[in-house]
Amino acid sequence: MDEGKAVEQLTEEEAAAALAALAAEIARHDRAYHLNDAPEIDDAAYDALRRRNAAIEARFPALVREDSPSSRVGAAPSEAFVKARHDVPMLSLSNVFSAEEAAEFDARVRRFLGLAPEAPLAYTAEPKIDGLSLSLRYESGRLEVAATRGDGETGETVTRNALTLADIPERIENAPALLEVRGEVYMSHADFAALNARMAESGGKTFANPRNAAAGSLRQLDPAVTASRPLRFFAYAWGAASEPLAATQFDAVKRLGAFGFPVNPMMKRCESVEALLAHYREIDSRRATLGYDIDGVVYKVDDLALQARLGFRSNNPRWATAHKFAAEKAETVLDAIEIQVGRTGALSPVARLRPVTVGGVVVSNATLHNEDYIAGRGAKGEPIRDGKDLRVGDTVTVYRAGDVIPKVIDVDLSRRPEGAAPYVFPKTCPACGSPAVREEGEAVRRCTGALACPAQALEKLKHFVSRAAFDIEGLGAKQVEAFWADGWVKTPADIFRLESRYGEGLQQLKNREGWGETSARNLFRAIAEKRRIGFDRLLFGLGVRHVGETSALTLARAYGDWPGFIAAMDAAAPMEGEAWEHLLAIDGVGKVMAAALVGFFSEEHNRKVVDDLIPELEILPVAAAAKESPVSGKTVVFTGTLEKMTRAEAKARAEALGAKVSGSVSAKTDILVAGPGAGSKLKEAQKHGVEVLDEEGWLALIGG
Ligand code: IVH
Repeated sequence: MDEGKAVEQLTEEEAAAALAALAAEIARHDRAYHLNDAPEIDDAAYDALRRRNAAIEARFPALVREDSPSSRVGAAPSEAFVKARHDVPMLSLSNVFSAEEAAEFDARVRRFLGLAPEAPLAYTAEPKIDGLSLSLRYESGRLEVAATRGDGETGETVTRNALTLADIPERIENAPALLEVRGEVYMSHADFAALNARMAESGGKTFANPRNAAAGSLRQLDPAVTASRPLRFFAYAWGAASEPLAATQFDAVKRLGAFGFPVNPMMKRCESVEALLAHYREIDSRRATLGYDIDGVVYKVDDLALQARLGFRSNNPRWATAHKFAAEKAETVLDAIEIQVGRTGALSPVARLRPVTVGGVVVSNATLHNEDYIAGRGAKGEPIRDGKDLRVGDTVTVYRAGDVIPKVIDVDLSRRPEGAAPYVFPKTCPACGSPAVREEGEAVRRCTGALACPAQALEKLKHFVSRAAFDIEGLGAKQVEAFWADGWVKTPADIFRLESRYGEGLQQLKNREGWGETSARNLFRAIAEKRRIGFDRLLFGLGVRHVGETSALTLARAYGDWPGFIAAMDAAAPMEGEAWEHLLAIDGVGKVMAAALVGFFSEEHNRKVVDDLIPELEILPVAAAAKESPVSGKTVVFTGTLEKMTRAEAKARAEALGAKVSGSVSAKTDILVAGPGAGSKLKEAQKHGVEVLDEEGWLALIGG
């Protein structure tokens, strides 16, 4: 066969031979590159091979081989793309599931802005596209970087792939010098069906739904493969922009349309909650005939100045929410009830279901919450499912709303098999055999084995490496499980000793199933990188009960440095006295969390684990940005009437700048912001010599 022959001129026989040769050759280069770290050809030559392969496949779909290079995404797909940091984070949306919740969203927005219920306030409403989000960075009108969302802060660069989409222009005219256009990559139903048919015909793997197909197609090593996949794009938002696009959301999106991006024709301006809900129903009624998947309607405050005032709360903008479509249901058989032991020892029953498709997704597991739920009792002992219990063999109704874990919401007693016995919830831990106890007033039964329980210890480790904690690339739940099973990693500190213990010459790790020289090297590098870790991430990673991401951040800000924090926890251990009171005085820390914290750090085994870990790390204070603010770490109290903003807004802005907002004045208060009508708090502040500012003074301090 002539290697250089144009694809258009190949006969079927030549094409088959070419595909066979290319498959073997590309596989050889993959091995050379990924496993042996010794590439024989440069990237351009390699790309050319893959492109030629994809082009031949596109012309002769029936010849696509089972071992086709395009169905394989290199050796490690996610690491193949260069990381791209988003200057403006890519956020997710809060959800509402009913008209009432939509009205509450509007009420929340109004309260925050200090708007009366009848004051005019416009929103936009548009379909929520079920695809994957993409950020497109244009500099001087030219697409420089396309990046996936990733964790919201850092995504993967997919620029060349994005450029293969007809909906994504390489150049845009009359745009700001810098503009990040954001939107959704998706696949239409018809294109999805055709793609799957093509994949099935060639013996390849098919995709479960259009969203997976879109994601799999965009995240390809070879742009030629992406090019052969029918992807589309809707623009609906923007990130960094060197100048404002417009004064309203509606007009800004219209401008994105004018730049040449497809924008959704069903976006509408609505002047009331009633109008939002009417448009929601309209979109819902057209859902089946749209030709692409949507999973709700997004509501956004229209006025961009108001959006800026509303700002964000952790990962969600306050100015937008997604009104999700009603959940979908299906009937299936409950095959088994299994008990999982979580990192806090909670015994969680899981339903193993005969696989069933619910709203396009195959469901084979559902949560059963706790023993009362199985027995047909709710949180307050009230009957649920009319008090019907669940038994293995039952025909049940499963319910799935969006990405939420499916639930078993009903059972058909008329189809209960004869002899089906009531489920008996275990009274001992299935992992370690320790007694599992249920405390007064609690629905959850917990294993008492603590770290002696392998299930708890393992779950704790998985939590330690999870995204919001240490987030070590290449060390996920699966790898932790494998290292655990071999005794390589028993405690967090072991992770940081992996290299010194097992890394020599990479031999030991390299010889493990699933590891090669490159991945071993990468793992050690990723672990080393995380030796420098934020106080809040460390604290969250330890998995103290009731201490979530936000609380960990609050505590880190309140205590500032790790040794000081540990000393404070020790001092608070008697659960009385100054240190204890100080802990309780932190906004957002209640008695339950405080008790969990001091309990955790005074428990001997935990303490050993922590003391063993700390010398491996360099603990950084929280977010540098917050540090630079003139009010970071300060305790601020607002009192009296504020005229430029509502109390909620003032609090949110102060917290965003790293301040702690408290409801009462004490000697620990740093600043009292007093508006007209201030009374007892002002006196109290004067008594303690606390700095007092009026609203103007406060705004001047924080920079307007
Ligand atoms: S706005 C700051 N509008 O939904 C908020 N998002 O759960 C930016 N999505 O990650 C998002 N359709 O991938 C927005 N019309 C739409 C959307 C939409 C789909 C996705 C997007 C985002 C996720 C949020």
